[in-house]
Amino acid sequence: MTQKTVTLIDNSTGKKYEYPVLEGTVGPAVIDIRKLYSDTGYFTFDPGYTSTGSTESQITYIDGDKGILLHRGYAIEDLAEHSDFLEVCYLLLNGALPTQKEREQFEHTITHHTMVHEQLTAFYRGFRRDAHPMAVLCGVTGALSAFYHDSTDINDPQQRLIASHRMIAKIPTIAAMAYKYSIGQPFVYPRNDLSFAENFLHMMFAVPCEPYRVNPVVAKAMDRILILHADHEQNASTSTVRLAGSSGANPFACVAAGIASLWGPAHGGANEAVLKMLQEIGSKDRIPEFVRRAKDKNDNFRLMGFGHRVYKNYDPRAQVMRRTCHEVLAELGIKDEPLLDIAMELERIALEDDYFIEKKLYPNVDFYSGIILKAIGLPTSMFTVLFAVARTVGWIAQWKEMIEDPQQKIGRPRQLYTGQTHRAYVPVGQRG
Ligand code: CMC
Repeated sequence: MTQKTVTLIDNSTGKKYEYPVLEGTVGPAVIDIRKLYSDTGYFTFDPGYTSTGSTESQITYIDGDKGILLHRGYAIEDLAEHSDFLEVCYLLLNGALPTQKEREQFEHTITHHTMVHEQLTAFYRGFRRDAHPMAVLCGVTGALSAFYHDSTDINDPQQRLIASHRMIAKIPTIAAMAYKYSIGQPFVYPRNDLSFAENFLHMMFAVPCEPYRVNPVVAKAMDRILILHADHEQNASTSTVRLAGSSGANPFACVAAGIASLWGPAHGGANEAVLKMLQEIGSKDRIPEFVRRAKDKNDNFRLMGFGHRVYKNYDPRAQVMRRTCHEVLAELGIKDEPLLDIAMELERIALEDDYFIEKKLYPNVDFYSGIILKAIGLPTSMFTVLFAVARTVGWIAQWKEMIEDPQQKIGRPRQLYTGQTHRAYVPVGQRG
């Protein structure tokens, strides 16, 4: 088969340049412009990377128009229904679902890495009690390379593997400790007889003075939320992890960079922002006012939990989240949840509104997750922390793929410079 190409004609010189088109297994092909600058002297200009494929990857595929999300080829709906979080972690990291033996081994490894270095507990005391747990999570994760330097040599595959397992296993412990610290309760050590989701709930909500029983429906919902957030292709935080890692930085430092990027309200911070927005709306009769504000060009208010850079259809994760939300509220006997009523009415109104239809703005994963997390008892400030706990495996899988890619180079974008050209220095006394 002949290689597909695209020809670029420079109208100022009449010169023609030909660039190969690279086909993936599914989804849009890409124009390989790696030689563009050396051939033509031009860079491409794509702020926000709306048309840029930054890497080749085999982990996650999204078709934003059809609302499809696949991890290693498996549909997110199937994984959410039939799998569990640790199996999805294995899948993302290794490319295939584990055999029974591999699954047991992996579970054993992750379970036995959940404790953190005892010295790390002292680290928390340096933070203010009222610090946002994302700030604490970011700081403590950044400090991990100071505790586990025996797994920071990225050129050693065995160290990379250990660092990956440590990161996935310890992040729930670190997250739960951030919460316990913020409310002045003692840290709760992980329990090896619990599943990943159960253990996280236990570390969050158990206290030493009485037994804590994990509600199986809540644990199932937590596991599902973790699956739904596990990876999402080259989003802002994942691209941050890849860019940080491209210089050879250790994985703990890279994940800390990813956490920092995730915190923003346009990304992982949206789940917290959705709940705040629903509380601010307060009652169904005020919805039209907020929809009007979201459509007003002169008002920077946006409907949080709506819209997505890639999905121009219903986010498939939001569909599962919506169902889970109803299940959890029913199990917990929450019949009248005013925030859920407002959310459902808001969704109905927005989906019928021309503005949202034209711009293809649908509810995203964060629209319903906040209501579930609130029902489970998670404080709002922990919502994005939970997102980070789940996404850590995605960051690690993408980091590992990058390090193992023989074509990997340091990420170094260029720019369109529009500042001053060269100026002569003027001594201070001669400046006008
Ligand atoms: N409410 C009102 N208008 C919106 C919204 C919204 N939530 N989202 C986008 N628009 C409008 C926007 O004003 C723009 O209008 P115009 O073309 O007239 O300028 C148009 O839709 C396209 O928006 P954009 O900002 O150019 O699109 P983007 O791809 O850069 O942004 C987004 C995607 C997710 C940042 C944005 O939709 C948004 O801010 N949504 C609210 C925050 C949110 O829910 N984020 C969670 C994303 S899902 C979880 C994750 O992956 O992290």
